[in-house]
Amino acid sequence: MTQQQTSMDTTFSDLTVQYLKSLKYRGIPNIVIDDEARQILREWTLQMRSTRSNGSTRSKDISQGHEKNLSSSTPAAQGPTVDRVADQGQGIIDFTHLRHVLSADSEPSTENPVISLPTLGGNTLEEKLNALRTIAEHWQPARVLGTLRPTMVFATGDPHASLMLIGEAPGYHEERLREPFVGPAGEKLDGILKAMGLSRQQVYISNIVKFRPSIPRQTTNNRPPTPQEITYCLPIITKEIELINPRAIIALGATAAKGLLGTANTPLSALRGKFHNFQGIPVRVTYHPSYLLRNEELSERRKVWEDMLAIMELLGMPISDKQRHFFLPRNR
Ligand code: URA
Repeated sequence: MTQQQTSMDTTFSDLTVQYLKSLKYRGIPNIVIDDEARQILREWTLQMRSTRSNGSTRSKDISQGHEKNLSSSTPAAQGPTVDRVADQGQGIIDFTHLRHVLSADSEPSTENPVISLPTLGGNTLEEKLNALRTIAEHWQPARVLGTLRPTMVFATGDPHASLMLIGEAPGYHEERLREPFVGPAGEKLDGILKAMGLSRQQVYISNIVKFRPSIPRQTTNNRPPTPQEITYCLPIITKEIELINPRAIIALGATAAKGLLGTANTPLSALRGKFHNFQGIPVRVTYHPSYLLRNEELSERRKVWEDMLAIMELLGMPISDKQRHFFLPRNR
């Protein structure tokens, strides 16, 4: 077997295990396999066992996009083996980190994979965004994870807008209509924008993850994306921000904030009240609109409004006295 074959076999076995796990996660406990598939699985199992009993240890050089098998003595196993799949230019993923599914330890790896976006076609902003939308539609890293639903929900609004708002991921309503923020949280967001003197057509609204996170036996219930799901989808939103190039970004909620700013252990309350920076663009972090649906208190609404006032000031938008005093206690 050639070095390339060995590497691809490992990759496909990784993929298969990941796929089976995703089926199980989605509530499909059994599948039918034919004799040929059974034979292939048997060969993979034997291969894995013999690799383990050879005591092969691997060290990784992700920055180089390859890994080296340190202890194997066969010429085929020496030198770099590139464990990557390029799926018709629709997302390149380094599968090295998925090796845990083949090892005795079935805990997910905490290592971050190297995921890169293929070169984007198009000349105008609209053409490039369309190209990005197509890439997102077929984004293999999300498929490989198996914990995100297949429908892609891209973005809405004006790609030339000064203000970009980024939420966490589509939910039930968004997946159905294939548009971000169209459910109850979207209504709340529309209300906030209206108070600022804006409509959703005048801003650009997107999500850090473009697929609805799945839950076993899911109906209308939603969950936020995991850090791993965010990592796998980050190249898309990063490119999107680069293309839209807004004058300011609002990160709606802790999930979007952590994903964009990498502030995993900082509570949202500590991220509020100042401008952060994402690739040179000012980012204001505020509570997610759904938080306001759960917390109707004036003090919480005022906090979000203060974040909006800061954005309006930054963008040089006119602010009336009435707007300045929104959600302040009456006796002030
Ligand atoms: N919540 C989000 O974060 N994004 C949506 O698109 C909808 C709800």
